[in-house]
Amino acid sequence: MSETSPKLRAELEGIPTYKPGKPAASDGPAAYKLSSNENPYPPLPGVLERVTAAAASFNRYPDMACAALTEELAERFGVPASHVATGTGSVGVAQQLIQATSGPGDEVIYAWRSFEAYPIITQINGARSVQVPLTPGDVHDLDAMAEAITDRTRLIFVCNPNNPTGTVVRRAELERFLDRVPKDVLVVLDEAYREFIRDPEVPDGVELYRERPNVCVLRTFSKAYGLAGLRVGFAIAHEPVAAALRKTAVPFGVSQLAQEAAIASLRAEDELLGRVGSLVCERTRVVDALRAQGWTVPETQANFVWMRLGERTTAFAQACEEHGVVVRPFAGEGVRVTIGEAEANDIFLKVSEAFHKEL
Ligand SMILES: Cc1ncc(COP(=O)(O)O)c(C=O)c1O
Repeated sequence: MSETSPKLRAELEGIPTYKPGKPAASDGPAAYKLSSNENPYPPLPGVLERVTAAAASFNRYPDMACAALTEELAERFGVPASHVATGTGSVGVAQQLIQATSGPGDEVIYAWRSFEAYPIITQINGARSVQVPLTPGDVHDLDAMAEAITDRTRLIFVCNPNNPTGTVVRRAELERFLDRVPKDVLVVLDEAYREFIRDPEVPDGVELYRERPNVCVLRTFSKAYGLAGLRVGFAIAHEPVAAALRKTAVPFGVSQLAQEAAIASLRAEDELLGRVGSLVCERTRVVDALRAQGWTVPETQANFVWMRLGERTTAFAQACEEHGVVVRPFAGEGVRVTIGEAEANDIFLKVSEAFHKEL
């Protein structure tokens, strides 16, 4: 056998691999998965029924244009259908946005730490990441991000609420930032956790997009709507950005099962948002309990909490796992813990209490 291997693009060297949240063990104590910001509720019966019915024809390709879903989304958000673009999860749409805007020599700005797919999808396309540190309070530093813009900047991600810290940027500061961004630079408001926001000062990106042709809003069915396993997300953006997303889409990427589930979920929105409300109550309970235990945790508007544990991160994650909950450690930095079912949150709070007492 020859030693020569196929030539691969140099950009792929050193790409950090996406680290999915660790699954809960099928045996042993780690029964609850609080590591991927998933929705703990099982599918609604009506949604499951529609998906099951669609499964009977999966010998056929899906509707490539996602036409019915696009129409429902356009109506739901009060935007033209030509401004809606669907994709294989919002991470798929984020990758398409990079493909559409940023190649070798171009720069993509985002806060750090933030969603771990940003550096990966930027590097895959040969563009350069410009990571702007969060403030000491773990919030986007929008002034520093505006100052990082150069004539090579093509795209800026603003993750609101931010993954993994749960922190938000509010209306006045975000509008001030958008006013500073050149009109030929695309700003992507990644609102994967939008439905969990209760702070009235956090703007709805869809409102900001209406008057700003360089703003694109990213949303997903994976979190509040509980369809993580089906892979469907979408962007709302003006033309020509939305048209570019249609060009860069993987043909037939969004399965018919995902399209049907998304439509059924939009129609069952009240019930699904009721579940979100219960998770938000749990979030308040968890954050209050952590603070009462003596932890400092940033205000979160997402379905997870962030604990800056530094060197104790790995030990804390291990302690959680030993007691039955899997959390998401970022070694040397902190732990992100998804708000799950009450039993899982209770176990986590017991571990955090014991851990804090030993500090
Ligand atoms: C901020 C953010 N954006 C996008 C995504 C991607 O979600 P999906 O591809 O499932 O829509 C995630 C998932 O964790 C996320 O945290």
